[in-house]
Amino acid sequence: MTGRIGVLISGSGTNLQALIDTFADDPAVEVAVVISNKADAYGLTRAKVAGISTAVVDHRGKSRSVFDAELVEVLSAHQVSWIALAGFMRIITPVFLDAFPGRVINIHPSLLPAFPGVNAQQQAFDAGVDVTGATVHFVDAGMDTGPIIAQGSVRRLKGDSAEDLKARILAMEHRLFPMVMRMAAEGRLQLGDGDVTADLRPGEALHLSD
Ligand code: GRF
Repeated sequence: MTGRIGVLISGSGTNLQALIDTFADDPAVEVAVVISNKADAYGLTRAKVAGISTAVVDHRGKSRSVFDAELVEVLSAHQVSWIALAGFMRIITPVFLDAFPGRVINIHPSLLPAFPGVNAQQQAFDAGVDVTGATVHFVDAGMDTGPIIAQGSVRRLKGDSAEDLKARILAMEHRLFPMVMRMAAEGRLQLGDGDVTADLRPGEALHLSD
């Protein structure tokens, strides 16, 4: 059961695609279900094309805890042991976190703790930083605040538009997230008392750069 991952999305799902492609030929790790809070998220199509179960759980017209309980029900029915938030634009509550303690992982397009929240790439661009990047972290009840697992730095190059920078950060996300989810699904990543422990294999690193 270790290798079963549930992925939550709200949009395009390029990070989902990176996970699907990475584990396509791996009998030990499976993207078992993809859930979106939006019925028109293109990531649902990516999942269907790959033959992965999908579900839509609409967040509208219900409390956050009721929404989270519905997510937990679907994820539990698919017997997942790890949850990847891949562009999932909702804050999750203790109802969700308590169901999967130390098992919920998010990807964020900045070097946290800098630039949490939405439009992190634009925030970094507007701030004029020379280096930004992507962060994979365990999720807690805050916004982009949980213990950091891995980061990838991305340089802002001379003449970069905000879109150029965003595209290179996204490419870094696609390297970082599958690497970390593999560690998790293979039982090589643990969260204990706020401390992250990772058992690295050759070729893996918790700090990447472009
Ligand atoms: C990514 O930039 C991710 O870091 C953020 O939302 C975006 C999702 O992109 N949380 P995609 O749907 O995976 O293409």
